[in-house]
Amino acid sequence: MSTYDYKIQDFMYQKIKNIKEPTIIEFGVKEGRSTKIFLEICKNNDGKLFSIDTDDYSSLFTNPKWNFIQSRDDNFSYLENKLPKKFDIIYLDSTHEAEHVEKIFYYYFKKLNVNGYFFVDDISWLPYLKSENRNNFYCEINNKKTFDRLLSIYLNNVENFDIEFNFISSGMCAIYKKKDELNNKKKIATREFSLKNILKKIFYKFKK
Ligand SMILES: C[S@@+](CC[C@H](N)C(=O)[O-])C[C@H]1O[C@@H](n2cnc3c(N)ncnc32)[C@H](O)[C@@H]1O
Repeated sequence: MSTYDYKIQDFMYQKIKNIKEPTIIEFGVKEGRSTKIFLEICKNNDGKLFSIDTDDYSSLFTNPKWNFIQSRDDNFSYLENKLPKKFDIIYLDSTHEAEHVEKIFYYYFKKLNVNGYFFVDDISWLPYLKSENRNNFYCEINNKKTFDRLLSIYLNNVENFDIEFNFISSGMCAIYKKKDELNNKKKIATREFSLKNILKKIFYKFKK
């Protein structure tokens, strides 16, 4: 199994494999690796899958449980009548930029059923560091920003959803919806760069 498969199998599939008659929305199809897994769940649990991509992947699968829609994921007015009103699972693997992820999350969270899952792929920046095998400036910066942004949304929503991160391969975030409410994000006012912490570091450096 590839690291991508481990990430999907161990982290995502385990959480959703028992959801009965799930309505699944997938943003980003490309090679259809995630599509294939969702179609397996649809087959086992009598679900339906709606996949959205800007490129035409309509001939990737012929499966009565699959609906492909060629569109941007943020073309909300166009998708409004093409998608069901409520979903159980949302998987976001399209544009990996913090602003985009935030926009999609705030729009679609209200359409997610309570007890449903919202997955965001590619939240780890570690494989993209200059010293690492995927060395990529854009992915390093964007994935770290997306990770921080999801945490700042969570900070003001701890009652409304649970959040988990997985760091296998390019990482994944799982959000479990608890309530039909969603607050604005909140700045994470860390004391990491405070004078107190700087003095603490100096103190321990000289203590050694
Ligand atoms: C990382 S790939 C998806 C990989 C796929 N989940 C898989 O398992 O093979 C990203 C896909 O998102 C599509 N995409 C990028 N931006 C998009 C957007 N704003 N709306 C819809 N699709 C988008 C691209 O065309 C590409 O096919």
